[in-house]
Amino acid sequence: MRYYWELWGRRFDSPIILASGTAGFGLELMEQNNLHGAAAVVSKATTLKPTPGNPPPRIVETKFGLLNSIGLANPGVDEIVKTILPEADSLPIPLIVNVAGETVEEFPAVIEKLERSPVPFGYEVNVSCPNVAAGGMVFGASPSTVEEIARLVNSVTSRPFSVKLTPNEGSITEAAQAAETGGADSVTVCNTFLGMKMNWRTGRAPLKRKVGGYSSPALLPLTVARVYKTCEAVDIPVLASGGVSCPEDVLELLAAGAVMVQVGTWLMRRPDAAGELREGVVRLLESDSQ
Ligand SMILES: Cc1cc2nc3c(=O)[nH]c(=O)nc-3n(C[C@H](O)[C@H](O)[C@H](O)COP(=O)(O)O)c2cc1C
Repeated sequence: MRYYWELWGRRFDSPIILASGTAGFGLELMEQNNLHGAAAVVSKATTLKPTPGNPPPRIVETKFGLLNSIGLANPGVDEIVKTILPEADSLPIPLIVNVAGETVEEFPAVIEKLERSPVPFGYEVNVSCPNVAAGGMVFGASPSTVEEIARLVNSVTSRPFSVKLTPNEGSITEAAQAAETGGADSVTVCNTFLGMKMNWRTGRAPLKRKVGGYSSPALLPLTVARVYKTCEAVDIPVLASGGVSCPEDVLELLAAGAVMVQVGTWLMRRPDAAGELREGVVRLLESDSQ
């Protein structure tokens, strides 16, 4: 029996998408032959201007997960369109470009530039980053801002896009409804959870920015709950992101209503994660149907 999953009108033989920030633009994983089993890859964040990201240290391991404060490190959209996307044209799977901005207007500005390239399959609009113009509040905390960003993005592209929501501020279901009203084709639920580690001996936080995004297999139930509630609140598809480390986790998120499931941090531990997860999912579905 063959199994299929669908995203934005296209059929895939895998439900696995590689999450933003953990797979670059997919090129290194392609060289290592690690893209098999993935339906698509989401790029690292793309911003209007080149962004160095946060000062190091920007990753720290904790007992049960990872804290990162990479920031939106990337060479900027012009360089990405000029040098990275032409290379990414050779990827065996579609590329979804993750987009971030410091102001509402930067989102459509970045996407207008990406539109010059034939490579992106679609976009993931990261409203989980801080809105510099509004004093650092996360865009996703305000449903009216999420709706405005989705409308602006919708006005500059006919490619599909997903709005990636934050679990940290505001109501995720209201933000999802706002994205839907603004014309988003899907929502991604969700980004990392705010976390912090303290060195009790020195009284200092090991991350330079002190607070970072926490990811861990232990967060899976938090993602399952948010995916389930978001699916009840909107009619557009929901992509799950957060806490996946085995095939059962993927099936749980699909059972909660997700159309596809992203894997991020686990990929850093198991570069072949997409293939392993896909095979495991198919094996479980086959054994269940006997
Ligand atoms: C090192 C690192 C960098 C990330 N960079 C981005 C990013 O640039 N844009 C974004 O939307 N999410 C980013 N994320 C969040 C992931 O895409 C994903 O949503 C999150 O880690 C939860 O999934 P996981 O538990 O499978 O890692 C990053 C995560 C990690 C660990």
